[in-house]
Amino acid sequence: MKNILVIGATGQIGSELTMKLRETYPNGTVVAGYIPGAEPKGELLESGPSEIVDITNPTQIAEAVDKYKIDTIYNLAAILSAVAEAKPHLAWKIGVGGLYNALEVSREKGCALFTPSSIGSFGITTPHVNTPQDTIQRPDTMYGVTKVTGELLSDYYYRRFGVDTRSVRFPGLISYVTPPGGGTTDYAVDIYYAAVKGEEFKCPLCNGTYMDMMYMPDALRAAIELMEADPGRLLHRNSFNIASMSFDPAMIYAKIKEYVPEFKMTYEPDPLRQQIADSWPDSLDDSCARNEWDWKPEYDLDAMTKDMLAKLKVKFGKA
Ligand code: SER
Repeated sequence: MKNILVIGATGQIGSELTMKLRETYPNGTVVAGYIPGAEPKGELLESGPSEIVDITNPTQIAEAVDKYKIDTIYNLAAILSAVAEAKPHLAWKIGVGGLYNALEVSREKGCALFTPSSIGSFGITTPHVNTPQDTIQRPDTMYGVTKVTGELLSDYYYRRFGVDTRSVRFPGLISYVTPPGGGTTDYAVDIYYAAVKGEEFKCPLCNGTYMDMMYMPDALRAAIELMEADPGRLLHRNSFNIASMSFDPAMIYAKIKEYVPEFKMTYEPDPLRQQIADSWPDSLDDSCARNEWDWKPEYDLDAMTKDMLAKLKVKFGKA
C-alpha cells in the first residue's frame, strides 16, 4: 500500500500525475496538495482527498504527512523558466526553499521524495547534442540554478541522511489537459491548440531551435517507474536524463500540417525565450535511465501529434 502526497497537484504535471497515481495505487491514498487560488476541481477533487499544502510552509507539509501516514512525496511545485527570470526571488523560494522543506520533512518522517529536474539544469557550456548524464551544469537562468541546486541538495540528503530521493530531468512536456505557464518549451503545446482552433500560430522561437520534448503519458510513467525502481540498481539518483523526441519549430509545424494541411505558422521570436532555449541542450543521452531502471519512451512526434490533435478536437467540440 502507498500513501502519497502530491505537492503542486493542480499544476501542469500534478493534475495528471495525481490521477495516474490514484489509478496505479487503488488501495492507497493519494493526497492532492494545492495552494489557495489553485483548488482542485472535477475528477481531481472527487477522486481522493485534498489538502492545502504550500511548499514554502514546512508545518503544512508535516501535518499532511502525519494525517495521511504519507510514505512518498511527489514535489511538483515550481516556477517555470521564463517567469522565473521575471521573479527570481520567488523561483528560489519555491524551487530551493520549498525543496529544503520537503527534504527536511522527508528526513524527519521517513518519506521517499521525487522532485523533477529539467533540461533547464544545463547551460550554454554543456555539450548540446546527445548531452551526457554526467556533464557540465552551469545554467544561465534562475530556473536552472534552482534545478541544479535541487539535484545537489537531494543527492546530499540521500548520502548524508539516507532519504530516498529520486529525480528525472524532464524535457519540455506536452499535454492536452492542463496548459503550462511561463515555460520556454510551452510553444510546443500552444501550437497544437492553435492548429485545432483554426488560428495562425506565431512561434516565439526561431527555426532551428532544437529541444527535447516528451508527451505527458511518458513523463508520468517515468516518474512512477523511477520511484518503483530497485534501489540496488540505481547508480544515479538526482537526476536522470530521460528523452523521447527532439525537434525544432519547423519539424513540429510540418508534422501538424500532415494532419491539418491548412494550418499556418509564422515566426515572431521572443528574445528572452530564444536566449533560454539556445542555452539548453538539443537532445539528451538517456542511456543511464535505460540501463538503471529500464526507461523506455512510447511516444514519438507522430504518435504524440495524432493523439494531441484527436484529444484537443474533443476538448473543443470539433471531433
Ligand atoms: N518546460 C520547462 C520550461 O520551459 C522546462 O523544464 O520552463
